[in-house]
Amino acid sequence: MEVSITSGTPEKMQAGIVAVGVFNDGLLTAAAQTIDTASNGKIAAMLKRGDLEDNAGATLMLHDVPGVAAERVLVVSLGKKEDFGDRSARDALNSIAKVLAGSNAIDAVVCLSDTTMPNRTMASRVQLATRVLADGAYKFDAPKQKKSAKVRGVKKVTIVVPKVDPALETAVKNGMAIAAGMAVTKDLGNLGGNVANPGYLASTAQSLGKEFGFAVEVLERADMEKLGMGSLLSVGRASYSPCKFIIMKYEGGAKGDKPIVLVGKGVTFDTGGISLKPGALLDEMKYDMSGAGSVIGVFKTLAQMKLPINVIGLVPAVENMPGGNAARPGDVVTSMSGLTVEILNTDAEGRLILNDALTYAERFDPACVIDVATLTGACVVALGAHASGLYANDEALAAELLKCGIDAGDRAWQMPLWEDYWPQLKSNFADMSNLGGAPGGSITAALFLSKYATKYKWAHLDVAGTASVGGDAKGATGRPLPLLAQFLLERAQAA
Ligand code: BES
Ligand code: MN
Ligand code: ZN
Repeated sequence: MEVSITSGTPEKMQAGIVAVGVFNDGLLTAAAQTIDTASNGKIAAMLKRGDLEDNAGATLMLHDVPGVAAERVLVVSLGKKEDFGDRSARDALNSIAKVLAGSNAIDAVVCLSDTTMPNRTMASRVQLATRVLADGAYKFDAPKQKKSAKVRGVKKVTIVVPKVDPALETAVKNGMAIAAGMAVTKDLGNLGGNVANPGYLASTAQSLGKEFGFAVEVLERADMEKLGMGSLLSVGRASYSPCKFIIMKYEGGAKGDKPIVLVGKGVTFDTGGISLKPGALLDEMKYDMSGAGSVIGVFKTLAQMKLPINVIGLVPAVENMPGGNAARPGDVVTSMSGLTVEILNTDAEGRLILNDALTYAERFDPACVIDVATLTGACVVALGAHASGLYANDEALAAELLKCGIDAGDRAWQMPLWEDYWPQLKSNFADMSNLGGAPGGSITAALFLSKYATKYKWAHLDVAGTASVGGDAKGATGRPLPLLAQFLLERAQAA
């Protein structure tokens, strides 16, 4: 989908759809008011009849409205005027995106930005709207025997702004780049584990690197053995798909600028290993490479935004399978850091690959390291599907990420990284065990990682609850790519 901006009056705009917002109790936005005036009160009359529901995001499509150039008027509820803010704006935008994606119209005009939203600049609103609308048009190219002949969905969206300027043009470009990165993340997540295996993640990174001009290197098992990545290799041992360690290097900054290092958990399928998972919803463990998917995807975003910073992406990619060669509970492995780990549960495998990646990250003398992982079911219990769990060994970095999450409409929530939890990871046979037990399971997982992230500022995002959704809308969400992209954008602006 294409997105652009324009200024002008909505009733004169030629398009398949023109979308305008209204508040509860018949309060019209300026754009809705112009349409209402041009049509001799069509919107007011419709609202008076009570056809539009009160909740933000409720929609009604009006056809052939007199005095309006567009074929259809999409009226969107913004909820109560006094409550208007990020949540209602997001609900309204998501609804518009859904209607546009399912519509037969070819193009649309969206007028929401004339509504006052405190705490957001016009550029921030345009970037977010562009991202949500473009991402809403994402469709997974499912391998079905019969493809539908006509693909529905609006191809071109114009957002109406008070005045077109270069900052807003950049905001559109950035929003598009974020949605493009999210499509990569979603595709990788949605593909089955038989296709999206460690080799597939590596070749995807390599082809993106070629297309968008960043370097990609892939370490094989022998390389990882030489580095001493005994923890990582223990996880992938029993899979027919060999382990890969993917290194991406984007050099947009000056030579001496310390890089930001992003690390993504790339378990392409998590059976649990010998500590086999139960069968229910096991298909969703194809999303266990979502951290990796967001890191690979954000390299596309980064390259398209051409940010003047240096960024390294590290993806330990493995498949966690049971088998005659698999690691067992009770095995002790030696990580690249030298720390030994007693594996008490082979299903706590994410931390066993991330620890070696975190040690590998030291060689880049990073400005900071952020890892992204579908790490624990406990995080889903704690925060559900709305916030990613955030942990950090540096409060300023944590605050920065929390703010970027709000700006990007992709929020995180900070969790404690207290040493008080450490006794849960004690082992009689190694420096630590990989299992902290049920209480505070997301916290002990993060605390485990923190023992490997000692030489730099580090943050960890547990995205087990946010990277995918189940149910009827089952699929990858592309999160936390918007948060990561916002972080890179704001670091680039500060540079
Ligand atoms: N990949 C899972 C975590 C997960 C669970 C992600 C649900 C998404 C949805 C992870 O590898 C795992 O199995 N974690 C275990 C850890 C436990 C054995 C300490 C868990 O959360 O149960
Ligand atoms: Mn697991
Ligand atoms: Zn896992």
